[in-house]
Order: sequence, then structure tokens, then C-alpha cells
Amino acid sequence: MRAVTWQGRRKVSVDTVPDPTIKEPTDAIIRVTSTNICGSDLHLYETLSAFMGPGDIIGHEAMGVVEEVGAQTADLKVGDRVVIPFNISCGSCFMCGHGLQSQCETTQNRDQGTGASLFGFSKLYGEVAGGQAEYLRVPQAQYTHIKVPEDGPDERYVYLSDVLPTAWQGVEYANVPDGGTLVVVGLGPIGSMACRIAAHRKNCRVIGVDLVEERLNRARPYCAEVIDLRTDDVEAVVADLTEGRGADSVIDAVGMEAHGSPVAAAAQTASGFLPSSVGRAVMKHAGVDRLAALNSAIALVRRGGTISLSGVYGGAADPINMMTLFDKQITMRMGQANVKHWVDDILPLLNDDDPLGVESFATHRLPLSDAPAAYETFQKKEDGMVKVVLKP
Ligand SMILES: NC(=O)c1ccc[n+]([C@@H]2O[C@H](COP(=O)([O-])OP(=O)(O)OC[C@H]3O[C@@H](n4cnc5c(N)ncnc54)[C@H](O)[C@@H]3O)[C@@H](O)[C@H]2O)c1
Ligand SMILES: [Zn+2]
Ligand SMILES: [Zn+2]
Repeated sequence: MRAVTWQGRRKVSVDTVPDPTIKEPTDAIIRVTSTNICGSDLHLYETLSAFMGPGDIIGHEAMGVVEEVGAQTADLKVGDRVVIPFNISCGSCFMCGHGLQSQCETTQNRDQGTGASLFGFSKLYGEVAGGQAEYLRVPQAQYTHIKVPEDGPDERYVYLSDVLPTAWQGVEYANVPDGGTLVVVGLGPIGSMACRIAAHRKNCRVIGVDLVEERLNRARPYCAEVIDLRTDDVEAVVADLTEGRGADSVIDAVGMEAHGSPVAAAAQTASGFLPSSVGRAVMKHAGVDRLAALNSAIALVRRGGTISLSGVYGGAADPINMMTLFDKQITMRMGQANVKHWVDDILPLLNDDDPLGVESFATHRLPLSDAPAAYETFQKKEDGMVKVVLKP
């Protein structure tokens, strides 16, 4: 089959690789019909290079049709139309039972000290072959799938794999009070979907922040205000809008690719050029997160408010402003999305009325063979690219 593989820092290619096969009775194979590129893939593309191996198949936002099932995949059947959650979870362990599928104890990576395995997500998360490919092997398939109706285009459902549950969890964890103010920092797919979900479900004022023209414009219809980091003093504007207090809740939908952290950026770049084992140690222990977005969340939230982190951070030794966090009495919630936990809440919104605008959410629909160019354009935020759906 054809698949998108990681080949080196800022280098992916489309190669012919062996078709996946059933290895465990709980496996299924799906024929992929749509598979997205995600902001998280950009971490692998560059920042987390040390955890990747040449030939690793990337991608974690796939949907398709079941081609083959093992002997223990419960009610999953050949021919079912399914979306595959980005986290691989069993559905029956302690963590899954508590709605924490991203911490599944069956697929946790204890050797790495990390949570549930993720598709296409490096040595940190199980080195499982990803979904930017013609076929995908789904482990724990008895639970790691979302059955979707036969009717409606793929793009009505494909964002159930990641964007929708991640943004939904981001909004839930932000715990914005009735009539309150929610600032969303970063208006990529996750941040802009969080704005849509908050505007649709919550009685609150949504303020979006970014520094890329078309991303600000995309969010505008769903926000009371958008603030352009390039021209505005974000803290001053938010203070003005909140009687000087700051926002009740802030979602950081940026993570470690944040613009405005030059020292960390240089360290990460350097780690990508080191031998992998050394680079891994640098990334895990030397503290090379780019904390610009987190720091602005800490500054923008009011005393006693809540920060919800959707953006992914990777270092372990960065100085975090504990004094301000403590003094302002801030609550923080974070983590990979527990995809299956939110699906029943989201599915009813994926209807003909399309209240979240999922069917027009993608900016680019491309064949799998265009993936290398798409990664480059997406990283540089060129050509108005915000969300890419690849069609294998
Ligand atoms: N928690 C989860 O389960 C989960 C799931 C998917 C994605 N993510 C993470 O969410 C983050 C966003 O993902 P995405 O797909 O929307 O990616 P993206 O890279 O397209 O979006 C990030 C946005 O932040 C903006 N930005 C950069 N620096 C900024 C700054 N200092 N202040 C304000 N805005 C800034 C960028 O212009 C961009 O629009 C990534 O870190 C990704 O890994 C987490
Ligand atoms: Zn994703
Ligand atoms: Zn589990």
C-alpha cells in the first residue's frame, strides 16, 4: 500500500510499504477513505524528531471501511463505516471505565512513562503505524472505533477522530461560567473548533487570539472579538473587555510550536540534529518547551479562573511561573483528548444543519501523494492552509 512516512526532520515521503495484517484477535484492518493532517503532526515533523524513526507511518485522524476483523472485535464487522479515534484504548480497564481513554492501562507505554498508545505518534506513544495510508491496522478494535451512519460525506464525521473531541474537552475543561468570558489562544483547527463549540453550547463571550490573517478571519463569525497578536497588546485588550480582571477561562490551543519562544526553538532544532538517543534525552529532560502560549494564558486568565490546555507540551524541566499560578489561584486541566468519552455528546450535532460547520472546515482536500508538499505548506502556514484532508 501507499503510506506517508517520516524520513527525517522536516521530511516526509509517500512510499510503498507492506499492507498491514491482523496480528492480534482484537485487531481490525480498515481501508482508509479520509485521513487528516493535524497540528500534532507538526511536532513530529520537527520538534519531536528525536522520537521518530525513518519509515514510521504517521497520521492519527483516519476514517474508512472495515476490511478485515480478528476473532475478538465484538460487534465490529467487515463493511462497517468507522472513524478511528487517535488514542488506542481497550474500553474495559480502570482508566477507560473512568472516561480517561487517553490513559488506557492496556495500551499505556510504561517504558516511556506515557499514557495510552496513539496512532502514528513516535516512540513516546507506542510507535504504532499511523493512518495517513491506504490501510490501517487498528489494535483494540473492539473499542477503538466509532461507527458512523452510511449517509453523509466523510467530512461530516472524520473530525470525530481528534479535532471535535479535543476541542470539546478543551471547552469542558475550561469550565467557563454562565455569562463569562472565554479566551481561546491559537486559532488553528483545535482553537477555531473550540470557539465554534463554545459559541454553540455555552452562554459566554468568546475571544480568539492568533497572528495569522486567515485564521483570525475564520474564527471571527464565532467570536465576539478576535485579537491579532501582531498588532494588538493582547493583555491590554482582554483587560479592557473584562473590567481589568482578565478572562474567566482561557484555552491554550497552541502548544509547543508557539510563535515567540526563540531560545526554545533553537534548542529543539538542535535536538533534531543530535543522534536520536541524545536528542531524546535533551527533549525529555533539558526543558525545551516553547512556553509563549502558556505564559500568555497565565497572564490573560483572571484570579481564580481556569486554564484549559489542549496544546501539547513536551519538555520536562521548563521554568513555569508557579508564583503567579499560585498567587492568582488558577485551576488548570489538560491532557490528550479522551476521544470516546465525548462522542455521544458530539454525534447529534453532526447532522444536515451542520451547526459546527464541519463539512466546510477543511481548507484543502488532496491526494495522499501530495502529503510532502502539504506538510511543508501547513508548517509555514502558507496558501491559507488550516486543515488538510488527504484522500488515499
Ligand atoms: N490535547 C489533545 O488531545 C490534542 C489533540 C490535537 C491537537 N492537539 C494540540 O493542539 C495544538 C493545536 O493544534 P492545531 O491542529 O490547531 O495546530 P496549529 O499548529 O494549526 O494551530 C496553532 C495555532 O496557534 C497559533 N499560534 C502560534 N503561536 C501563538 C502564540 N504565541 N499566541 C497565539 N497563537 C499562536 C498559530 O498561528 C496557529 O494558528 C497543537 O499543540 C496540537 O498538538 C492536542
Ligand atoms: Zn490530530
Ligand atoms: Zn483501557
